[in-house]
Amino acid sequence: MCGIVGYVGARPVLSVLLDGLKKLEYRGYDSAGVVVLGEDLNLFKKQGKISSLESEISGLSLDGKAGIGHTRWATHGVPNDRNAHPHLDCSGKLAIVHNGIIENYRELKAELIEKGHVFSSDTDTEVVPHLIEEELSKTNDLLKAVLSSVNQLKGSFALAIIHKDFPDKIIAARVESPLVLGIGENENFLASDIPALLPYTKKIIVLENGEIALIEKSKISIFDSQGNQIQKHPKTVDWDARMIEKGGFEHFMLKEIHEQPNVLKETLEGHLDLPRRMVLLPEGPPDDLLRNLETLYITACGTAYHAGLYGKYLIEALTGLPTEVEIGSEFRYRERKFNPKSLGIVISQSGETADTLAALRRLKGEEIPIFSITNVASSSVARESDWVFHTKAGPEVAVASTKAYSAQLLSLVLFALKLSQARSGPFNPRTTELVQELQKLPVLAEATFNLEKNIQAYANRLRLLTDYFMLGRGLDFVTALEGALKLKEISYVHCEAYAAGELKHGPLALITSGKQVCLLATQRSLLPKIHSNFKEVKARGAEVLVLRFPEGEELEGDETLVIPSTSDYLSPLLAIIPLQLFAYYMAKEKGCDIDQPRNLAKSVTVE
Ligand code: M6R
Repeated sequence: MCGIVGYVGARPVLSVLLDGLKKLEYRGYDSAGVVVLGEDLNLFKKQGKISSLESEISGLSLDGKAGIGHTRWATHGVPNDRNAHPHLDCSGKLAIVHNGIIENYRELKAELIEKGHVFSSDTDTEVVPHLIEEELSKTNDLLKAVLSSVNQLKGSFALAIIHKDFPDKIIAARVESPLVLGIGENENFLASDIPALLPYTKKIIVLENGEIALIEKSKISIFDSQGNQIQKHPKTVDWDARMIEKGGFEHFMLKEIHEQPNVLKETLEGHLDLPRRMVLLPEGPPDDLLRNLETLYITACGTAYHAGLYGKYLIEALTGLPTEVEIGSEFRYRERKFNPKSLGIVISQSGETADTLAALRRLKGEEIPIFSITNVASSSVARESDWVFHTKAGPEVAVASTKAYSAQLLSLVLFALKLSQARSGPFNPRTTELVQELQKLPVLAEATFNLEKNIQAYANRLRLLTDYFMLGRGLDFVTALEGALKLKEISYVHCEAYAAGELKHGPLALITSGKQVCLLATQRSLLPKIHSNFKEVKARGAEVLVLRFPEGEELEGDETLVIPSTSDYLSPLLAIIPLQLFAYYMAKEKGCDIDQPRNLAKSVTVE
């Protein structure tokens, strides 16, 4: 978490840094700071969002040709001005910004204090400028000093370093935390993520673990952890700057919810062979591998984990292949055995989630090949996988994931169908019917927005809500889990998602008169069962919102939302949209910070 930026070139440095930080604010937003290197180091930092920093320095025009900036998500040290980055060495000539955690900072700090260094923050980060200062006193070569300092650090970090005596240069280093370099014409950039670079360039170099870059306006030189210069070739990204604007919507989240029909269309593009009613998945594992599998291991975190759960239900239903799904933070540490005839499926929007990456590496350590589903083609997950499905959601800016989730679900449908084709041949009526249904999805998703006004009114009516329940069976349970996560993370309403059949094993005790419940009823084969659950909660006085297909008329709630009819297997792709809208409008009713909810950050690149 945290976002870092850097710039060397002739543009007004301060505004390039602030602009870049705003594009990265989703990564952390409890304090921010910049340093511009002119005659001196001009340093500004402030608790709060980037707008607080901006109002403090608005109108300043600083001469300088290089600078670095930071937006923070606090780990070590409370969010305040002192702990905000950049941090300086004792001489005040060297400044650094850092994303990640320095795990051995206590030992290093003790040694540095012993040597006379004076610290002025509670952060783990501050050991780095003092360590480099110490090394610099031995060599007077900034690159060498950074290299030997970095080799003493343990943990995860992306660093950008600037020094008054080495003007017009930035040194950047990466171990685990992401760092991308942007290449311009006589100007160069660095950032934690691609959106900060898009207004200036689409030519990027992704720094790998252990690499160090010396960034000057006319060139970038890259070195390995031993200091040997290496050659890396830039890539061109297919995102553009318009994709990271709000496009007339009040919040990124609402824009991203509304982008879903198009995301489904883009993700399907090139993957359907309609005449033969087959899916094509050229980016996936080959058929002979798919045919010989005995197990699948899916791992992911948060919303991507819910997509994984959907994958498990669907894959097992369509192919019978036993599929395990586990949260990355649990999977990485579990003591267990693995089936060697297996495939790992790793799902991550950002492709940089620390626990997901660790789970991926755990699988690789067991020599299990990896198929990943990610929205960022240049991400660590993508680079470390054997096969990558690049979801075409475009940059997702709101912290709450919406369109990336839909793209992940759809990717898993394509994978499940491909698996079924490889294992039992292409002419299975269940799968060929699904292929037909898939092409209708973008239009059906668009039609769910007809419910938006009703959902807004429902949220207005429930604006004082503190507790909520979402219940469903089968794939509706998966949708309930994801809907509940959305409600919790952006509207701070405590919401419990339950497999409706579990209700009577405990949670039913919570259902009393006036309790608000959403009952999902899109699994046709389970309708009689869900009807019983409806009766159970109604009998205890709950008010029920029913979400169903047109053909479930016997289930009328106190409110009913009817989504367009599709296959039960595909219903999660439509049913989630009203729940995302409900979370959005609840958060709006409550005046919450929708795109940047409290305590969260978009990419969780620390453990
Ligand atoms: O980038 P990833 O998909 O790996 O992120 C995983 C989770 O951190 C993410 O889905 C998180 O749960 C979102 N805030 C949910 O909206």
